[in-house]
Amino acid sequence: MSEQAIGVFDSGLGGLTAVKELIKVLPQENIVYFGDTARVPYGTRSDATIRRYARQDADFLLSRGVKLIIAACGTVSSVATELYDTLPVPYTGVVIPTAAAAVNATRNGKIGIIGTSATVKSCSYKKEILRRDERITVYQQDCPLFVPLVENGFIADDDKIVQLVVERYLSDMKAAGIDSLILGCTHFPIIAGAISNYLGRDVTLIDSGKETALYAANILGSRGLLSQSGTVGECEYFVSDTVEGFRRTAEIFLGREVGENARHIEI
Ligand code: DGL
Repeated sequence: MSEQAIGVFDSGLGGLTAVKELIKVLPQENIVYFGDTARVPYGTRSDATIRRYARQDADFLLSRGVKLIIAACGTVSSVATELYDTLPVPYTGVVIPTAAAAVNATRNGKIGIIGTSATVKSCSYKKEILRRDERITVYQQDCPLFVPLVENGFIADDDKIVQLVVERYLSDMKAAGIDSLILGCTHFPIIAGAISNYLGRDVTLIDSGKETALYAANILGSRGLLSQSGTVGECEYFVSDTVEGFRRTAEIFLGREVGENARHIEI
């Protein structure tokens, strides 16, 4: 079992920010990634649709024989919570590890949360933070324009459009004096530079992909499922839309080439 791959999925490319961290934390592990690029975005869809898509994505990864499934998607993690109880392999979303990291990070007890509309509507991060410490004040904002900006390559820190949208979404939180901000959608770390420039260096950005990679390492370690191969793991990528479009943008998220390891599947 321990030599089987880790399965990671997202609605599109955002989950690759978690894969990038997984490769750093667990370089010996094989990874199978599925990006549902034909049906992205999930964040504006109904709960029933998000749940159905999430189960199909997980079933695809199960068909590849993975030992752990990570929903590297704030939206799925927030809405399809039944995955915790219904999958035959260990599973984690991004909400629990990310909320825990934010509670640890805050000094003034004011935490901001940004995510897709479905994520913010679910109050998933908020509930998880308050379960850990009810004295914390939470500020939430959905940022639906961030996902298409990132998917279309509007990511430079000095891009005027990115700066305007960041200011529009985050001005209230800035005025409220948050000292920590959860990037509750796995697409958002790609524009962390612009967000940080606007909020200032004193505000800690909590990257859901990174925190979830660390959490996944703990799950595998505690269950004796870490690879013992001693060799560098391989990554396979599957997408539901064209591979060409995926290859180009995936490199931005991963910081490395995807090459011939990307394949199309029908979901
Ligand atoms: N990466 C997804 C998330 O973390 C957002 C993209 C979408 O709306 O599908 O929520």
